[in-house]
Amino acid sequence: MVKLFVAVFLFAFILSTSEACSCTPENPQRSLKIYCSADLVAEITVFDTQPFGGNFYEFSINYTTVYKMPTKFNETYPTKIYSNQQSSACGMKLPHNLDIIVVGNINEYNTFGPKGEIGIAMCSYLDAEFKESLKNGTFINCSELKNV
Ligand SMILES: *[C@@H]1O[C@H](CO)[C@@H](O)[C@H](O)[C@H]1NC(C)=O
Ligand SMILES: *[C@@H]1O[C@H](CO)[C@@H](O)[C@H](O)[C@H]1NC(C)=O
Ligand SMILES: *[C@@H]1O[C@H](CO)[C@@H](O)[C@H](O)[C@H]1NC(C)=O
Ligand SMILES: *[C@@H]1O[C@H](CO)[C@@H](O)[C@H](O)[C@H]1NC(C)=O
Repeated sequence: MVKLFVAVFLFAFILSTSEACSCTPENPQRSLKIYCSADLVAEITVFDTQPFGGNFYEFSINYTTVYKMPTKFNETYPTKIYSNQQSSACGMKLPHNLDIIVVGNINEYNTFGPKGEIGIAMCSYLDAEFKESLKNGTFINCSELKNV
C-alpha cells in the first residue's frame, strides 16, 4: 500500500512538473534503455535538500537497495546526489522520507550537478513494472536492448 502511494505520488509529481521538459515518448524498451545506460540505480530515501552552486539541488540520501553503482564509488556510496533546479531543464526535486528508486548518471557537463557527481533528471524514470522486476530480483539483461 505504501509503495502504491509512493508510485501515485511520484506520478502526480512528474505530471505537475513535466510541462516544460519533454521526455522521449513511451515505448516498450524505454525503461530498459534508461536502466542500461544509467550509472546508478538505487532505492533511496532523501532526508535533506539544499540549493547548490546557484543552479542545482543537492540531495542528502540514504540507500535502501543498490542495483547499479559506478565502480569509482565502490568503497563509499555517494551520500549526495544532484539535479538542476529548473524543471524546464528537466531538473527535478525529490520528496523526503519516502523509499524511491532513482536513476543517476555521472555528470559529464554541469547540467544536472557538478561534473563527476551523480545527477538525476526528470526523464530518467523507470516504469512501475520495471521497478517491480528490479525489486523482485529479475535479471535485467542489457544485451536484449535492440539497436534502435
Ligand atoms: C541517513 O544517514 C545519515 C548519515 O549516514 C544518518 O545520520 C541518518 O540517521 C540516516 N537517516 C535515516 C532516516 O536512515
Ligand atoms: C573500486 O574497485 C576497483 C576494482 O576492484 C578498484 O580498482 C578501485 O580502486 C576501487 N575504487 C575505489 C574508489 O576504491
Ligand atoms: C517480477 O516482476 C515482473 C514485473 O512486474 C513480473 O513480470 C515477474 O513475473 C515477477 N517475478 C517474480 C518472481 O515475482
Ligand atoms: C541476454 O540476452 C542475450 C540476447 O538476447 C542472450 O544471448 C543472452 O543469453 C542473455 N543472457 C542471459 C544471462 O540471460
